[in-house]
Amino acid sequence: MAPRRKKIYEGKAKILYEGPEPGTLVQYFKDDATAFNAQKKATIEGKGVLNNRLSEYFMTGLANIGVPNHFIKRLNMREQLIRQVEIVPLEVIVRNFAAGSIAKRLGLEEGTPLPRPIVEYSYKNDELGDPLVPEEYIIAFGWANQQDLDDIVALALRVNDFLTGVFYGVGIKLIDFKIEIGRIWDGDFMRLIVADEISPDSCRLWDVKTGQKLDKDVFRRDLGSLTDAYTEVAKRLGVLPTNTQPIKPTLIN
Ligand SMILES: Nc1ncnc2c1ncn2[C@@H]1O[C@H](COP(=O)(O)OP(=O)(O)O)[C@@H](O)[C@H]1O
Ligand SMILES: [Mg+2]
Repeated sequence: MAPRRKKIYEGKAKILYEGPEPGTLVQYFKDDATAFNAQKKATIEGKGVLNNRLSEYFMTGLANIGVPNHFIKRLNMREQLIRQVEIVPLEVIVRNFAAGSIAKRLGLEEGTPLPRPIVEYSYKNDELGDPLVPEEYIIAFGWANQQDLDDIVALALRVNDFLTGVFYGVGIKLIDFKIEIGRIWDGDFMRLIVADEISPDSCRLWDVKTGQKLDKDVFRRDLGSLTDAYTEVAKRLGVLPTNTQPIKPTLIN
């Protein structure tokens, strides 16, 4: 049987297919979870559905406040139509409180407020384990130039302010998050936009009152059900109905 459409790339959490029009892709969210550079793996029932919805929610909100991103529309439970970009090979990380690698590197207790939001970069390379890189490397190796980096920092900080506010409104503290940035061209004019995904896979989220983790650290550190944590985030944001009574099947789209 001929494949329904061409697979462009299969990563750890998502699959990209050729889109219906040039310059578009279909992004399929898998249930696979990986951590520690894919040394730890599992399939988490329902994760892809939740992340597809949540990424749609954040990208739509960002577009509404003028932060350009790749999201076009959700197609179904697991897929969304996106603009194809040329990915800048960096993970752009924004940190508000110490956790993970910065806590380890600087000997800070997790949850320590940082003096201001810190933007850092790691080079997207699985074999190398996405190493932290300074701006000097990024510019020297031509992954981005100084103007790009200024634009990337401005985008990252706008995303941070938006997400911090949205999460704070539902009793969740945004500890840190990671985004990816892509290039699109309007003729000769290049623009940088937010790409990939924004979801509890790419954020650290702590309940404001209890400090309970509601993000991928639940999987990394074996703290319970990841689906329950992501479902809680989605419910608080009103992305999923809080009423879980069975409802009559309805056609969507
Ligand atoms: N709009 C886009 N256009 C092209 N590539 C994208 C876009 N958004 C995300 N990507 C890339 O698609 C892949 C998403 O799949 P994922 O499972 O996250 O991969 P990985 O294992 O490489 O992190 C990533 O490599 C990401 O850089
Ligand atoms: Mg990824």
